[in-house]
Amino acid sequence: MPSPSAPTQDELKAMVGQAALQYVVPGQIVGVGTGSTVNKFIDALAAMKDQIPGAVSSSEASTARLKALGIPVLDSSVVEEIAVYIDGADEIDHRGCMVKGGGAALTREKIVAAQSRRFVCIADESKLVDVLGAFPLPVEIIPMAAQRVVRQFAALGGQATLRLKDGAPLVTDNGQHILDVTGLRIGDPVAFESDVNQWPGVVTVGVFAHQRAAVCLLGTASGVRTLTFE
Ligand code: 5RP
Repeated sequence: MPSPSAPTQDELKAMVGQAALQYVVPGQIVGVGTGSTVNKFIDALAAMKDQIPGAVSSSEASTARLKALGIPVLDSSVVEEIAVYIDGADEIDHRGCMVKGGGAALTREKIVAAQSRRFVCIADESKLVDVLGAFPLPVEIIPMAAQRVVRQFAALGGQATLRLKDGAPLVTDNGQHILDVTGLRIGDPVAFESDVNQWPGVVTVGVFAHQRAAVCLLGTASGVRTLTFE
C-alpha cells in the first residue's frame, strides 16, 4: 500500500482551525483574528453560529468572511469581555510569546486579544521557534515617524523597510503604515514590546508578549499538538 503523503500546509491550517472549535464557549462571544489559518477557523465556526451571540473581529477581511457565513459581528467597543480569542501567528516561542502582523492586522488583533480572557493560537508547526525574530517583525507606525523609527531599529541592529502593496505604501485598516524589521533576535519579548511601544509614532509593535497565548494548537504531520502556557 502506498504510504500516505504528508499533509500540506493548507491541510495543517484546516486541522487546527477545526480543532479550535473546542475552545469556543457556547453562549459566549468569540474573538476572531486574521490570516489564512484563521480563515479556516471562521469556515469551521459557521457550523456553531447558532450557539454563539457573535464574534468580535480584528480586521475588515475577517469581518467580511464572518458576515458572508452569517456569523454576527459585534462592535468591540460595546463588548465588555470576550471568552476566548482565536488567532494565528507568524512565530510562537515556547512561552507562548508571538510575532504577529504578517497580515497587517496587528493593532486590532492586540486590542481584541487584550479584551479576551484566553488567547488560543492556531498555527502549523513551522511557526514554533526557540527565539523570536527570524520572521520580519511588523510594526504599525504613524507615517510621519517612519524615518525616526527606522533609525531607532538600526541602532538595535535591525533593518526596517516600509511594507508596500501594488508599489505604494500599504495602508492598514487604521490608515497607518507598516515597517517590517529584519535582523532582530528578541531574547526578552516582554521588555522588547514594552520598550518599542514607547517610541513616538509607533502604534503597535508585532510582539505579543503581554498578550501572549495561553494555548497553542500546532498542526503537525502526526496531528494536532496542544501546547499550554497557563
Ligand atoms: C495577521 C496575523 C496572522 O495571524 C499571521 O500573519 C499568521 O497568518 P497566517 O495564518 O496566514 O500564516 O498576525 O496580522
